[in-house]
Amino acid sequence: MLQNDLLLRALRGEELSRPPVWMMRQAGRYLPEFIALRDKYDFFTRCQTPELATEITLQPLRRFPLDAAILFSDILVVPQAMGMNFEMKPGVGPWLENTIRTEADVKNIFIPDVEETLGYVFDAIKLTKKELDGKVPLIGFAGSPWTILCYAVEGKGSKTFDIAKGFCFENPVAAHKLLQKITDTTIAYLLKKIESGCDVIQLFDSWGGLLSPKDYDKFSWPYIEQIVNALANKVPVTVFAKGCWFALEKMSQSKASALGVDWTVSPQIARYLTKNSITLQGNFDPARLLSPPETIQKMVKEMIDKFGTTKYIANLGHGILPNVPVENAQAFVEAVVNYK
Ligand code: CP3
Repeated sequence: MLQNDLLLRALRGEELSRPPVWMMRQAGRYLPEFIALRDKYDFFTRCQTPELATEITLQPLRRFPLDAAILFSDILVVPQAMGMNFEMKPGVGPWLENTIRTEADVKNIFIPDVEETLGYVFDAIKLTKKELDGKVPLIGFAGSPWTILCYAVEGKGSKTFDIAKGFCFENPVAAHKLLQKITDTTIAYLLKKIESGCDVIQLFDSWGGLLSPKDYDKFSWPYIEQIVNALANKVPVTVFAKGCWFALEKMSQSKASALGVDWTVSPQIARYLTKNSITLQGNFDPARLLSPPETIQKMVKEMIDKFGTTKYIANLGHGILPNVPVENAQAFVEAVVNYK
């Protein structure tokens, strides 16, 4: 049993006097204790060593009164398990030497045995759950198939992912084969994450907003929906599709329990598009955490006033930035916890 089940109650749509709060990328480079471990171990070593992943997951919870933990890991561990040898290059970010650019490349990508290839994630979940000792729920996550395809084809981060888009538009048959392989792997992976102890699942479609609404319906949403349908009778699923306000109405009619929204959409419009029928999560501009703490507190109160305390999870509109002062992150979390 959980001592703090505010997040689960918000996901069920129960009436609450204040929303639960957590921050995307809450275990990150703005924390000195995170930097200390980053300087000692490379990125995927931290992901692959359960003791390190657990320690990093717990770091923000020791500082702030957060209502959820999110497992320290990365969306790229899934394509790694499928035979794509992603590295995390300092100063560059995700890097794949042998990019996926042809039908033959897609053929070489396999659907792995997730227990064999990603066992370290399930071990990290079990260890984290033990350490959390029922204090707060644990969120597990995966990237959306479209967002994973973006990195697989492009081979690195991009503002536009135009090589990935070009691949889909020139070679839709191969693209759909790749998206389906990623979907099948992700479903097996997330089912095992749930079995290992994750209480909630979040899907990150970080690059969905680069697609037109029509292409979103072709290359992203159908695969997200397959994943949601496979999990929804086990745990609540949150879909965070950045930049996808145009898809909010359709997504709100799916089996997802919540939708993440970024800061480019107002609470009123997000509620209007989703007909107030689903829990929303977000949407504080991460750069607004660079404002003075008093301004942050005022803006958080306004945000909750607009979303309401029910069917709402307070969060940022995307991951926390590395240059945010720890006191400002603290002001954000405390402003939610002390909301009246
Ligand atoms: O939210 C959390 O605290 C959980 C941890 C988490 C990480 N990555 C750790 C991480 C989560 C949820 C992710 C998801 C992720 N990874 C996404 C989707 C969410 C989003 O931000 O849009 C994406 C697109 C990735 C791929 C990825 N991994 C990128 C683009 C980067 C940044 C590269 C850089 O140098 O800026 C990473 C690295 C990464 N993943 C870091 C962290 C804390 C920072 C690098 C480090 O610690 O060395």
